[in-house]
Amino acid sequence: MSVSSSSSSSTNLKIGIIGFGPFAQFLAKTMINQGHTITAASRTDYSELCHDLGVSFFRDVEAFLEAENDVILICTSIVSLSEVLKTIPLHCLKRPTLFADVLSVKEHPREVLLQVLPEHSDILCTHPMFGPESGKNGWKDLTFVYDRVRIRNEATCSSFLQIFEREAGCIMLEMSCEEHDKMAARSQFITHTIGRILSEMEIKSTPINTKGFETLIQLKENTMKDSFDLYSGLFLHNRFSKQELENLELAFKNIKLRLLGRVNEVQDLDYIIR
Ligand SMILES: NC(=O)c1ccc[n+]([C@@H]2O[C@H](COP(=O)([O-])OP(=O)(O)OC[C@H]3O[C@@H](n4cnc5c(N)ncnc54)[C@H](OP(=O)(O)O)[C@@H]3O)[C@@H](O)[C@H]2O)c1
Repeated sequence: MSVSSSSSSSTNLKIGIIGFGPFAQFLAKTMINQGHTITAASRTDYSELCHDLGVSFFRDVEAFLEAENDVILICTSIVSLSEVLKTIPLHCLKRPTLFADVLSVKEHPREVLLQVLPEHSDILCTHPMFGPESGKNGWKDLTFVYDRVRIRNEATCSSFLQIFEREAGCIMLEMSCEEHDKMAARSQFITHTIGRILSEMEIKSTPINTKGFETLIQLKENTMKDSFDLYSGLFLHNRFSKQELENLELAFKNIKLRLLGRVNEVQDLDYIIR
């Protein structure tokens, strides 16, 4: 793992986004502000929204690929990645292109992209560790993880990374997809799981909130803004998540056992445990 800083100058890129859902729309706004040209293709018809944003929306994926993008940015849900890639007529690519993805798991897209893309396509696997909520006031000091899986065109890769590095001020962290998934299972997946448990419990603000409880309410609300597809993808396509779910369950059981053990030690608690 290394924190990096790239030195070459930035260029305006033609970026084609596949999957124009909430996260892609959020990224596209900053990219447009930086002067990049954005095109998009998605399962849903986003023509009107794209028109308002200044993005060219293609209903026809062949025409989208023929638009000769410098970068194709994959922003589909984790669980639909393989299915989406199957529908892309990769033979329509006119020239070597950089494929980048932003999926919140990294080993899975790495494997799939290496499998399906033509040998002449470069591959950059990335995970911006922020979203529309945490990044709403800018991306400065937020972390951007990336793995240069197969890069020959250094100039395009560097220009793409600079979207996050220079102009947006992200902390750039280069690490392997495996390292990312290990850490993300122990951090992001656990965060989402706790948020979903709190939502299942229907926790609500009270007149006597502590600061700690307000943090939990915020966590619940932020987590529930993300789709269940995103959350289930963190589990289904990160091989380290299952173990972390088991660790969480075991930790909960241990804490419960300690509390119940206390009940047996303490006198005069009949009124609580009855
Ligand atoms: N939200 C975040 O804070 C965040 C942060 C970092 C990375 N990411 C990653 O960014 C990606 C997009 O996230 P998201 O928040 O926008 O929501 P998401 O629910 O993870 O993905 C929504 C996107 O997936 C597409 N999609 C879903 N099922 C599909 C299918 N069967 N066939 C074709 N397309 C399908 C949707 O297309 P349509 O809209 O056309 O239906 C939409 O573009 C995910 O991989 C996520 O892990 C998200």
